[in-house]
Amino acid sequence: MPVTNFPIDYFSSVATPFYYYDLRLLDNTLNAILEASSDPAFCVHYAVKANPNPKILQRIAASGLGADTVSIGEINAAVAAGFPASKIMFAGVGKTDEEIRMALLIGVGCLNVESAAELEVIEEIAASMKKKAPVALRVNPEIDAHTHHYITTGLAENKFGIAMSMLDGLIDHCNKSEWIDFKGLHFHIGSQITTFEPYKILCERILRLLEKYPYMEFKIINVGGGLGIDYDDPDANPIPDFKGYFQVFKENLPLKPGQQLHFELGRAIVGQCGSLISKVLYVKEGVDKKFVILDGGMTALIRPALYQAHHKIENITLKSEIMEKYDVVGPICESSDTFGTDELLPLTRRGDLVAIRSAGAYGEAMASGYNCQPLPGSLFSR
Ligand code: LLP
Repeated sequence: MPVTNFPIDYFSSVATPFYYYDLRLLDNTLNAILEASSDPAFCVHYAVKANPNPKILQRIAASGLGADTVSIGEINAAVAAGFPASKIMFAGVGKTDEEIRMALLIGVGCLNVESAAELEVIEEIAASMKKKAPVALRVNPEIDAHTHHYITTGLAENKFGIAMSMLDGLIDHCNKSEWIDFKGLHFHIGSQITTFEPYKILCERILRLLEKYPYMEFKIINVGGGLGIDYDDPDANPIPDFKGYFQVFKENLPLKPGQQLHFELGRAIVGQCGSLISKVLYVKEGVDKKFVILDGGMTALIRPALYQAHHKIENITLKSEIMEKYDVVGPICESSDTFGTDELLPLTRRGDLVAIRSAGAYGEAMASGYNCQPLPGSLFSR
C-alpha cells in the first residue's frame, strides 16, 4: 500500500514540477519522534537546512521541537515559523560577523563554534554588545559514518569541527572568558546513516572525551543528526526507527543530572513526506534505450546528480499491466540530469505524472535556477 495518496485529479490542474508534501505522514513522523524521545533530558532540534518551506517549519515548530540553523536566513525563517529563539541553535563553519551579531541580538540558545578563529570573533562581538554569547564547541570526533563522501563530516580531513587535540586550550579559554557562556560540546558525523554502529562509536568517543574533563560541567551534549531513511522502499518504511535510534544513546551515553542531550535531525523528519511531481514531456526512442523525459530535472532535485542518490520513481497516472524499461531523465543540459537508468515502469506516455519519492529533505531546499528553470512550487495534502 502506498503510504502517500496522490490526488491525481487535483494535480492535473497544477503547474509541474512541484513538491507534494503529505502532512499526515509528517505529523505521524513527528509523533513517533516525540514518543521515542520522551526522556526529559532529550531535546530534538529540526535541521532547517533539510527543508525550510514555511508550512513545513510551522508544523514542526508547533510540535514543540527546536531548530538547528546555519545562517541568519534560516534563523529568520525559524523565528517566523514560531520556534522560540531560545530553542534555535546556530551552527555553521563560516558565520559572518553580521550573522553572529544578529544571532546574539535575537537571543538564540547556542552558537556551535567550529574554530579558534571563530571563537575569537564571537567573543569580540559579544563584548562590543555587552552580551554573553552562549557557546558550544563543535568537536571533530574522527568517525567514519560510512555514507557518501560528500555527506561525511566527522573525519579529520573534513572542514568541520575542532580537532580533539586542540580542544583543551579552547575549553579553558571559554571557561575564563567574560563574554562566553560555555554550554558544552557538539558533534555531527554525517548524513544518511543507515546503521546504528557509527552512533555507538560516537557515544564511546564522547564518553572518553568527557572523562578527560571530570571538573567540567557540560550542560549540553549535542550529538548532531544524520539518521537515514529508506529510499528504496518508502512505503514499507515511511518512518525511521526512532525508538532504536534514541535507545542507542540511552544505553551508551549516561548523562549527569541537569545535562541535556541534543539531537539535530533533518532528513529523518521530512524526507519521506515529500515527493517531486513532474510531467512526462516525451517518451524518446533511443538506439538501445527508451527515455522518459520529465519537465523536472536536477534543478528541482539535485541529489541524484550530486550524490548518485536513487529515489524511487513511480508513474502515478497509469496502472498499466505492461512494464517497460526506461531511463528517466530531466530537461537540463547535463548528462548527470538522470533520475534512474533501466527503471521498470508501467508503459509510460506523454502527459503522465511521475512521482520521485522520498524527496522531502534536501529537495526543494537545494533547488536551483540553472538553465533559467523556474523553482518548483509546493503543494500540501489536507
Ligand atoms: N547537524 C549538522 C551539523 C549538519 O551538518 C546536518 C546536515 C544535520 C545536523 C542534519 O543532518 P540529517 O539529519 O538531515 O542527516 N544535501 C545532502 C545532506 C547534507 C547534510 C548536511 N548537514 C543530501 O541531500 O543528502
